[in-house]
Order: sequence, then structure tokens, then C-alpha cells
Amino acid sequence: MKIMHVSAECYPIAKVGGLADVVGALPKYQNEIGANSSVIMPFYNNKFTQAHEFTSIYQANLKLGNEELRFNVLKVDDSSLEFDIYFVHVGDLLYTDYVYSNNDTNRFLAFQIAALDWILTLKEKPDYIHCHDHHTGLIPFMTQESYKYESLNKIPVITTIHNAQYQGWMGYDNLYKIPRFNIEKVGLIMWDGMINPLAAAIKCAWRVTTVSPSYMEELKFSANGLESLLSHESAKAIGILNGIDSDVWNPDTDKYIIKNYKKASVESGKKANKKWLCAQFNLDETKPLFAFIGRLVGEKGAELLPYAIDYAVRSKDISVIVLGSGSKETERQLFDLIPRHSGNYNAFIGYDEKLSHIIYAGADFLLMPSRVEPCGLNQMYSLRYGTVPIVRRIGGLKDTVIDIGDNGFGICHNDVSVQDMVVAISRGKDFYNHQKEFKVNRKHIMSIDHSWKVSAKAYIDLYKSIN
Ligand code: ADP
Ligand code: GLC
Repeated sequence: MKIMHVSAECYPIAKVGGLADVVGALPKYQNEIGANSSVIMPFYNNKFTQAHEFTSIYQANLKLGNEELRFNVLKVDDSSLEFDIYFVHVGDLLYTDYVYSNNDTNRFLAFQIAALDWILTLKEKPDYIHCHDHHTGLIPFMTQESYKYESLNKIPVITTIHNAQYQGWMGYDNLYKIPRFNIEKVGLIMWDGMINPLAAAIKCAWRVTTVSPSYMEELKFSANGLESLLSHESAKAIGILNGIDSDVWNPDTDKYIIKNYKKASVESGKKANKKWLCAQFNLDETKPLFAFIGRLVGEKGAELLPYAIDYAVRSKDISVIVLGSGSKETERQLFDLIPRHSGNYNAFIGYDEKLSHIIYAGADFLLMPSRVEPCGLNQMYSLRYGTVPIVRRIGGLKDTVIDIGDNGFGICHNDVSVQDMVVAISRGKDFYNHQKEFKVNRKHIMSIDHSWKVSAKAYIDLYKSIN
């Protein structure tokens, strides 16, 4: 079974968030169970592409409206990658030092057209095309409706929604850039008077998945304008919980952390990582350490952090560390708070993969007060590293974390509010003070299996169910 994933991100090549982690792991686990899964993604100008050699395997011109653009499909020379990755290089359009910008219409349109133009030429075509998020949302439409891709119209296209907040809206004036199709079908790509690639994918893909069962249900009531569409298409839609790459996220072998550990050595292992973190960030290592890692955006409830932290650390009986970037206002507030709570709170504003691993390893608790969380990977990483997740009951968080009050192993709250966060932190402190139970719980959460095994198979079963 030949599967081609199409995505804007893929770890370790280009990562903004969890999409990269998923696309960097799912193909590997699909291949372990007998599939032949690969990825096609844009060629960005970043550390990975600068450090590797590439071979061009296909060159042609593509048409983006009236413009002719030269593109290349490249393959990377790196034996450590566990599946094939193909790169689309389109002039300077995609070769940027960022993944996303405010003006992505032409970038991702060109990417999708180039990917399909190339697939069209393959002798052995994929049996399934698996698209991820709105950046690839016009592919299901184009393979069905664009005359030039007619020979691809028997290949099932699956779309996974990682985040329905972003939909790739573009003005009607971009219509002529989409390879020619029967204009009577234009309704398939429109939503609320705009071209909406995510809506087009929901309408045209053979199957639609999202990254947790609860999020699938929530989308019918809250999907940034697409609620009725998702309800209408629910017969072909399913929520499949993400897994984690348990080779990359393994405290026993993690190259990034200060001291490796397994279940039996969790106490000493976490202590060493916490000690390092606290020394680096001027925090009190004798206090329970609460952490936040993530994009500082409304979806993550990040604007609550400065207020909740300001309140919670006043009693000086906890330490808090934040790693994140995003809203400039939240960044500034988090930064300004540092001198006020010196010794009990610190923040690294920015993106740092290595530091994130050390925080998962060294923290006692991980905060996720998300407003929207399609799946969330952080809570699953934190479980694997023996760190108790404190989450709002929403989306994938609801599907993966059970409260200690319900015979579970984490702490859950219902609202996105400073009050709920502060109460949850205080419950965390109490739990931490019952060291015997706390230590038993640490070992327990490390053994919860969120590896991709089950979900990789669920996707294969889904593909098979199409024929
Ligand atoms: P989302 O994709 O919505 O941002 P996920 O929980 O699915 O949320 O995945 C977030 C991923 O990005 C995790 O691997 C997390 O560790 C990582 N991450 C987020 N922000 C940062 C940061 N500032 N530095 C390092 N890693 C980060
Ligand atoms: C999105 C979601 C996140 C999910 C990730 C991977 O970025 O916001 O919840 O874990 O995609 O599917």
C-alpha cells in the first residue's frame, strides 16, 4: 500500500507545532506495519536544508494563473530518515526562512500544484494521498475536478484536520490560479463568499479525519464557521487520536536531556534534570516545578498565564517556568513578570527544541489551559517523562487525561479562567505534598502507552475501508 502524505511541516525538517511531530512519525509507524508511506513537503531555507545534500529528481514549470514558475522535486540524502521525503522547491516562493507568513496564498497553491504535477508523472502512483490541514486543502478538489488531474481522480484523498481554526481563506480573485475545472463545481471550494481550502477539503476528500474523537464531536458545534459543514459531512468523518513518536520522546534515550532515566530511576533522573533547569533559570529546586510549553496564542489559553502565574507564585511555594512564543502582548507580560517573582518564576521567550525536552523531563507538572486542543501532544510527552499534566477538559486533552479525583493520574479543570488555573495549580501542590502517592503516580504515567501503534493501524484500516 503506497501512501503519500502532503504537509507543510515534518519533523525534523521543519516544525512549528504538533503537525510536524505527527507527519514526522505517522509514516514511520505505518511502514512498520507493512505500508510504503512517504511525505512531500515544501523546501524551506532552514537549518536542515542547509545541512543536507539534495538530488533533483524532477523539474518542470507550473502555472499559477498567468505566471509560469520553475519547480524542482528534490530528495534528501540522509540515511537516518526512516521514510522517503520529497521536497518541492518553487523559486523563492517556498524557499523562505519561515514556514508560515501572512501571505501564504501563492506559496501553498504553488506547492499543491507542483506536488500534483509531479505525482501525475509517477509510474507507480500512490494508492492514497493523505493531506494535512488547509495548506493542502485544495488537493482533494483538484484531483476530483481539475481537468489536468483527471487521471488521479481514482486515488482516494484523505484529509486530516489538525486545527480547524485556520482555514487558508483566499479571495475569489485567486480562482484563476486553480488549474481549470468545470465552473459549475465552484461551490465545492467556496464557503461564506471566499475560497476556503479547509472547507473544500471537507467537502471533497474521500474521508476526513481529525486528531482526537472528542475534537471531532466539538467541531460540530465550534469550528470557526464550518460547524454545519462538519455536521453535514459527519458520515465520512472520524476522530483518530494522535500517537507520539516513542523513539524520539523516550527519557531513557533522549539525547537532549541532562540525565536519562527509566521508570525504575525516575526519581533520580527527574531530579537531575530539574536541578539543571532550576540552576539555569534561577528557580527553587526544592519546590514543585510547574511548566508551560507552547505557542502563546488564545487557543492555548496563553493570555491567562501571566495572571495565573502572578497569583500562584506569590506564596513562594512553587516554581514556574514558561517556554513559548507567539502573541507579542503575552510575551511582554510574561517577560515583565520575571523580576517581580525572581527565584520562583522564569520564562524563555522563543522556540527551543532541546529546552522543551529538558522541561518535560525536569518539571513536576505541565500546564495546558487550552481553549481549543484538537489533540495536544505535550500532555502525552509529559506523561512519558513522568510529569503530571494539568489540563482543561477539551478535545484531545479530555481523551488522554483522567483526573486524580476520578481514579486517574492528572489534574483537570473545566474553564479557561485564571481562577480554574489557580485552583488546579493548588491541587497540584497538594498532590505533590503527598509524596508517596505522587511517586507511585509518576511511575504509573510513564507506562501509559500513547505510541503510534494503535493509531497508525487505525489509519491503514480507514484507507482500506474506502475501497
Ligand atoms: P500545537 O501543534 O497546537 O502547537 P501540540 O501539543 O500538538 O500543539 O504540539 C506542540 C509541539 O510543539 C510539541 O512538540 C511542543 O513540545 C512543541 N513546542 C511548542 N512551543 C515550543 C517552543 N517554544 N519551544 C520548543 N518546542 C515547542
Ligand atoms: C494542531 C493542534 C494540536 C495537535 C496537532 C497535531 O496543531 O493544535 O492540538 O496535537 O495539530 O495533530
